[in-house]
Amino acid sequence: MEENKKLTNEAGAPVAENEHSLTAGPRGPVALQDVWLLEKLAHFDREVIPERRMHAKGWGAYGKLTVTQDISQWTKAKVLQPGAETELFLRFSTVAGERGAADAERDIRGVAVKFYTEEGNWDLVGNNTPTFFLRDVHNFPDLNRAVKRDPRTGMRSAQNNWDFWTLLPETFHQTTVVMSDRGIPASFRNMHFYGEHTFSLYNEDNQRVWCKFHFRTQQGIKNLTDEEAEMLIAKDRESHGRDLYEAIEKGDYPRWTMYVQIMTEEQAKNHYENPFDITKIWRHSEYPLHEVGVLELNRNPENYFAEVEQAAFTPAHVVPGIGFSPDKFLQGRLFVYGDAQRYRLGVNYNQIPVNRAKCEVHDYHRDGFMRMDGNYGGAPAYSPNSMGEWAAQPDVMEPPLDLSGALYAYDPQDDPTDDCFRAGGDLWRVMTEAQRALLIENTARNIAPVTENIKYRHAVHCCWADEEYGRRMTEALGLDPEKVKQLSKGDHKALIKATLPE
Ligand code: HEM
Repeated sequence: MEENKKLTNEAGAPVAENEHSLTAGPRGPVALQDVWLLEKLAHFDREVIPERRMHAKGWGAYGKLTVTQDISQWTKAKVLQPGAETELFLRFSTVAGERGAADAERDIRGVAVKFYTEEGNWDLVGNNTPTFFLRDVHNFPDLNRAVKRDPRTGMRSAQNNWDFWTLLPETFHQTTVVMSDRGIPASFRNMHFYGEHTFSLYNEDNQRVWCKFHFRTQQGIKNLTDEEAEMLIAKDRESHGRDLYEAIEKGDYPRWTMYVQIMTEEQAKNHYENPFDITKIWRHSEYPLHEVGVLELNRNPENYFAEVEQAAFTPAHVVPGIGFSPDKFLQGRLFVYGDAQRYRLGVNYNQIPVNRAKCEVHDYHRDGFMRMDGNYGGAPAYSPNSMGEWAAQPDVMEPPLDLSGALYAYDPQDDPTDDCFRAGGDLWRVMTEAQRALLIENTARNIAPVTENIKYRHAVHCCWADEEYGRRMTEALGLDPEKVKQLSKGDHKALIKATLPE
């Protein structure tokens, strides 16, 4: 043990002095030959890595998924077979704030899970909301700019935020969720989370169904009001991370029950709206939740940077039995995560221990910055080869997917079945009176600094979702009900035209 306590340099050689620089005389300049000092400073200069573009602030923990039910009729994924127990790493995050932001902000929460399955890593990179703001990947970088800092002032801007949201009617359901009582969860332990997108599952017979993943908290839902959150942030910017860490340290392991919603290919063809549009929900009454098992978090990381900051999740990581869908938002995400991580962590980021698969990896990728393993030694570096190494595995090929239609930049608003306000209206109608009152209050407070033209847009959207929602929002924002009524008579394009700044 004594040996371990001795200071060495990066090359393992003993370091004689770690507090006083090597100087020419007691009051003289520092010598270039103080190489330990140079190494220490040079390393320090490079300690900051880029933060994640979104979801910069986060907290992680290890745990396991235990499958208690049988859903093998839909999927052959080994991780989802009855009785399977799979180790996992999960990272919770806020979305808009930077790495130093406070946890208890009004924002959606990211929930990224890496399941270390025997067939490779499966990453589910979701949020605590069942839908998302947008449905075309084109809009994502712009959402980021609208909710983050204004280019001139360097400050967050409610004006930018609401201008962007109200120009895109598909954001309405998610805006309603974020402004609702659920907009500030009391802790990560007290919220549900979702895969959000439509994914696919396929079974041993290569039959495909469409699927959505849900994780419902066993701790119960608890939220904070704006006032409670402000008081909490004043005392503790790390409230959610601390809550999670302390619960796990004392053995109070948080758990979520996992469910899937299933839609057959036939049902999808006849569904009343696009089932691959991430801004739409699948109603539980039509597509019930089927229980799968329990996700538990039971171990804190040993080192925040190594495990939480360097964790890299991507929806592109699936395993046989789980696949993608034509959701064009998901399609965009399949590219972006690995791309971001190659920039943020380097091309060999999958070799960082928290990201490394627990099964053998044989991918032929060679070399690159920070190669940490033996680089596959002398094994063949090309494929096909005559040595029989690492052949592709056609038995795990997904079932073929029929596609049709001409290549074009389609606008989903031109789809006659598209209704951006149905889900928000449904949500309003299932809310209790207390929840409705909070939603109105929270929105009014949040949108207060914004110009009136944008407030009119939002009030009209609320009217289109539900008459009462619209009426109460109009009143709370101090708008002219007659003007809202007039604006509500047109379509969205007319609304935008009528509410552009003069
Ligand atoms: C096409 C739209 C989207 C784009 C372009 C996008 C992009 C990104 C990027 C670049 C990161 C940082 C990745 C990294 O540096 O490791 C990120 C993180 C994240 N995104 Fe997205 N995102 C999109 C939509 C979504 C959606 C719909 C969800 C939820 C269903 C989501 C959940 C997350 C989560 C949870 C993280 C944090 C992962 C972690 O903890 O490391 N994103 N996103």
